[in-house]
Amino acid sequence: MSALRVGVVGVGWAGQQHLKGYAALPGVDIVALAGMETDRVADLQKEYGIAATFDRWEDMLDAVELDAVSIATPTFLHAPIAIAALERGLHVLTEKPIAAGLADARAMVEQARVSGRVLQVVFNHRLRGDISELGRIIESGELGTPYIAKAGWLRRARIPGSSWFAQKAQAGGGPLLDLGVHVIDYVLHLLGEPEVATVSASTYAELGAQAIEGFDVEDIAIAFIRLTNGATVTVEASWDAYRADNNEYWMTVYGTKGGAELRVIDYETTQFTVFRTKDGENADYQATPSENGGHDRVVREFVETIGRGAAEWAKHDGSLGLKRAEIIDACYRSAESGHEVALS
Ligand SMILES: NC(=O)c1ccc[n+]([C@@H]2O[C@H](COP(=O)([O-])OP(=O)(O)OC[C@H]3O[C@@H](n4cnc5c(N)ncnc54)[C@H](O)[C@@H]3O)[C@@H](O)[C@H]2O)c1
Repeated sequence: MSALRVGVVGVGWAGQQHLKGYAALPGVDIVALAGMETDRVADLQKEYGIAATFDRWEDMLDAVELDAVSIATPTFLHAPIAIAALERGLHVLTEKPIAAGLADARAMVEQARVSGRVLQVVFNHRLRGDISELGRIIESGELGTPYIAKAGWLRRARIPGSSWFAQKAQAGGGPLLDLGVHVIDYVLHLLGEPEVATVSASTYAELGAQAIEGFDVEDIAIAFIRLTNGATVTVEASWDAYRADNNEYWMTVYGTKGGAELRVIDYETTQFTVFRTKDGENADYQATPSENGGHDRVVREFVETIGRGAAEWAKHDGSLGLKRAEIIDACYRSAESGHEVALS
């Protein structure tokens, strides 16, 4: 069988994770790379033995025969690149969030269906060892039926370095979209993909607007999400707030038979407690995260999906990424209007 010919667009942190992921796989050739940082592109071309490089993604798609494309660019470019690639019959792995806006996200999924190709959005945080283990615990029934989940990803004074992140036209939103999309993804994944009924959210840009001229996204967001099964989820996401100066992921679950609390500070799991009773006695215990997965696994699963053929491709049309986009869009509409928003 001939090798899968892959092109990668974007050479920032995310693009480099995709390159590493493909390079580790047999039967995959990274044949093209596009990015605007000439020196970094040249270094990566050498490191990975890539035949062709380009400044712009359009030139890469025009010049090289590809089977699949990875997109790791500023978010507003996900849709035009994905749609152009899908129209050419290529499979697409795009970074999160799926797109800068809901209309773009819908157009991408529509094109994936019309072209009959894979459109997959990178959700690597659901593959973290702590999240995987919490998923196993919930799945085992140990916590009974979860009815409240509270989760967040909080940072202080860490507005991302690349300036496009702070521009709504290029990023689509602030930390709710950048970090919150991962949190919303793994919470709903752990709860078994329930449907969202309504959202109520607030966003603020107090610190970002002081620090950066033209900052027009939020620097912190908080959302209250009601699920159609009666459960409730809250999500907080910040790039900046007067809080501990660290990078913190946390999640709390309350279920009918038990609960769990997870805290990961600066990438170290500092708390992972399961709360329960046995024979009427407190039987709480500390859980241990399983092995971490990340971009390497996302990229491997994308390549495996392509290898499985058209019946499988139809199941990977980007609709999971679109569902997350619908929730976040509703959160922004709620924050703007000051009212709860129903998802139809
Ligand atoms: N899944 C994750 O954990 C994760 C982490 C970081 C970023 N991301 C996502 O990855 C994407 C990129 O983020 P980043 O931090 O790597 O950004 P970045 O700003 O560091 O890199 C963006 C890259 O896109 C390239 N680019 C821009 N316009 C282009 C064009 N016209 N043609 C070709 N290349 C072009 C730039 O040259 C640059 O190499 C974003 O969507 C972000 O949300 C995901």
